[in-house]
Amino acid sequence: MKKGFIFDLDGVITDTAKYHYLAWKELARELGIEIDEAFNESLKGIDRLSSLERILRFGGQELAYTEMEKAALAAKKNAQYVELLTDLSPADLLPGIADFLAEAKKQQVPCAIASASKNAPMILEKLGVAANFKAIVDPATLKKGKPDPEIFLKAAEAIGLAPAEAVGFEDAQAGVEALNAAGIMSVGIVRDGNLTATTLNVTDLREISVTELLAY
Ligand code: BG6
Ligand code: MG
Repeated sequence: MKKGFIFDLDGVITDTAKYHYLAWKELARELGIEIDEAFNESLKGIDRLSSLERILRFGGQELAYTEMEKAALAAKKNAQYVELLTDLSPADLLPGIADFLAEAKKQQVPCAIASASKNAPMILEKLGVAANFKAIVDPATLKKGKPDPEIFLKAAEAIGLAPAEAVGFEDAQAGVEALNAAGIMSVGIVRDGNLTATTLNVTDLREISVTELLAY
């Protein structure tokens, strides 16, 4: 029996993954590096600075910038990303999320957010669902990002659950690996592309209910 839910944010609660991609693509282009959607898959779930380092490595520029310059480039990308989120509203919740969270609340099932994004609290406020989460792991407190299990173990602990009692939702392979390493059941949210090594995959949360998942 499961007792609570842990959600990734970008690509699971809302489709901000596309805005991360647009902002990185623009920054990369300014640096003379072209990235495409296939490469972008490898950035999903990866923190801001590590994403920039992957892009620089992809473009053969891993040694071209100092730590301070890299911090400035990451800040520039974030400013562009935040600009793209100006009009984010409850209408941007992915299909099924609002009903699923409402049902979890009705059944008093605790929910947590395990996202690498430092923008998560602001995004959840804009989406109107911040109050549905009992805990949001602060990514600044992590020693290692996904695929390390740390973020999901902290999220489970924050809502008082053992890993085996939680269900995690992810749209990124790095996140699925983190869930598996944490010993937490994984539900893949797969719209395009694919996720492997999940317990089950769905297109969106209209396909599975709170009650069905709690019975696992
Ligand atoms: C993850 C996204 O949720 O958060 C990544 O999948 C992103 O693409 C990471 O880089 C960090 O987000 P932010 O908002 O702190 O730059
Ligand atoms: Mg994600």
